Amino acid sequence: MCGIFSTISLDTNVKNLVVEGLKKLEYRGYDSFGISLIQNNKIKNFKSTGEIPSDPSKIEFEASGSIAIGHTRWATHGGVNTANAHPHLSQNQQYAIVHNGIIENYTKLKQELIQEHNYQFHSETDTEVIVAYFQILKENLATKQALQTLCKKLQGRYSFIILDNNTQELILARQGSPLIIGVPKDETSIFIASDVPAFVKYTQNVIYLDDNQGAILKLADQKIQSHYFDLDTLTEIQKRIIKVEINPEETELGEHPHFMIKEIWEQKDSIRKALEQDLSTLKQFVEKFNEAEKIIFIGCGTAHKVAICTQYLFAKLTKKITLHEISSELKHQKNILYSKTIVVAISQSGETAETLEAIELAKKHGCFTTCITNVRESSLDRNCDLSLFIKAGTEKAVASTKATTGQMAIGSLLAFACADRLNEGKFLLSNTGALINDMLNPRYEDKISQLAKELRYAQNMYIIGKGANYPIALESAIKLQEVTYIHAEGFAGGELKHGPLALITKQTPVLVIASNDDCFQEIISNAIEIKSRGGYIIGISPVNNEAFDYWLKVPEAGLDSPIINLIPIQILAYHISVLKDNNPDKPRNLAKSVTVK
Ligand code: M6R
Repeated sequence: MCGIFSTISLDTNVKNLVVEGLKKLEYRGYDSFGISLIQNNKIKNFKSTGEIPSDPSKIEFEASGSIAIGHTRWATHGGVNTANAHPHLSQNQQYAIVHNGIIENYTKLKQELIQEHNYQFHSETDTEVIVAYFQILKENLATKQALQTLCKKLQGRYSFIILDNNTQELILARQGSPLIIGVPKDETSIFIASDVPAFVKYTQNVIYLDDNQGAILKLADQKIQSHYFDLDTLTEIQKRIIKVEINPEETELGEHPHFMIKEIWEQKDSIRKALEQDLSTLKQFVEKFNEAEKIIFIGCGTAHKVAICTQYLFAKLTKKITLHEISSELKHQKNILYSKTIVVAISQSGETAETLEAIELAKKHGCFTTCITNVRESSLDRNCDLSLFIKAGTEKAVASTKATTGQMAIGSLLAFACADRLNEGKFLLSNTGALINDMLNPRYEDKISQLAKELRYAQNMYIIGKGANYPIALESAIKLQEVTYIHAEGFAGGELKHGPLALITKQTPVLVIASNDDCFQEIISNAIEIKSRGGYIIGISPVNNEAFDYWLKVPEAGLDSPIINLIPIQILAYHISVLKDNNPDKPRNLAKSVTVK
């Protein structure tokens, strides 16, 4: 999704800093980018479609100054072209804006501006409407009042920064989308970004702007001055500086060719990290679970598949009534949300718009809200009553891997804790972590890369599983779709005869997830049905079987097998992607953090 990076610095050449920051936000997904900078009391603007060059000197933008805003755009309103790329300038050229989010009522506001102020627009974006309105409001109001009036007009989830040439200030506002301020100790510079990795190299001290808050930042007397306020009352707010636990190195590729494979390998250690949970928080979760009539696990995409998997585990280990739902579908089931309901939101980023909205809705209906997330102080963490952190470290590849298995690990821990078998759950997980550590070795990866060579030309691939491996089949399909662009679909084994079997022709590759559990015989029967229709069976199992044309061995991990089963599929998807010359880190059309609906 769109990425914002902005800075003020004593250094008079911040262009390179902005380019570097935008490069760090690339992983979120983008199709164009741009920079605005104040030079000699004028806003100089640069916009381009396509990739940001690694070498800033390759950008044909000769400008220097100490205050700038930058943006990576993931098109929502209007096509991918320079006119729609941010920053957008106001008609009088005194203001430039970068924005993340969606202004739902922008068409109405645009009409008003055209009819009442004869305002001329140059793009199809909702963003330009914000800066246009700001220009009009500033004709009669001071900055804070103009910002307040503007935000009252806007509907939707957003964050934006306006660069004001008159006052040489950055004007910030947030309503639903993240905006994080990096504050180096020496006060000679300040950074504002959609995500901490963009500036973590320079500082780990951050301020999180909250919803309905604004800020004005400027350089005065050789120091950065910042002023935070409530957008309803305009009263000053003292913001807390938080030290984030991100090791700058973890956001770099190191010796790996792509973040996706780096993050797959980081699973050698991530289950152990997920296991290190604060016991008192776990206890609070269990107490709340015990008081509740039902628990609903929610998430989007992969996180939703983790929700299904967690629900299976709860159903296996406890007598609690548990449900799972796609975050964006919860609003269509309002009647089941009431005070005796706990909603557990699962999200790597903690910024997924639909999940945040579902949590807001659940709160409104009196539910107790909790989350399992990778990002401390994310909007989700801050909006939920209780949070558990998966501690997987920054995940940059769009295709989630280590965060997924980390979320599943926490789901497993919670189910065991709720069944009053926490120690058993911890022991199992610690064993699972050790198994993954052994499993991830060059020989294993090489074996899978050989299989990738066989499958790279496949047009379709299917994955089947049963029980807790059914959501793993669904998640495997997502991994394959995202990075290989092969049509992949996951099914519950039992569903085959009810339709999907018609899709099987000679040599159609089908991944069969067959853990050594009470589903084994049934899923093998499904595999035989497929094989007898010509399908090519790749068994993912701790035991070989004559139904398999190819056996991808996985270690035996009992109830944690779904976690283990994902690893070879992640590696397979990665290698097919590379063989097909795709970029596994940045799949086409996708973004890492989906902050708009
Ligand atoms: O940050 P979140 O976990 O909330 O993201 C949810 C989905 O957008 C995400 O899992 C998506 O499906 C991934 N790209 C899957 O690899």
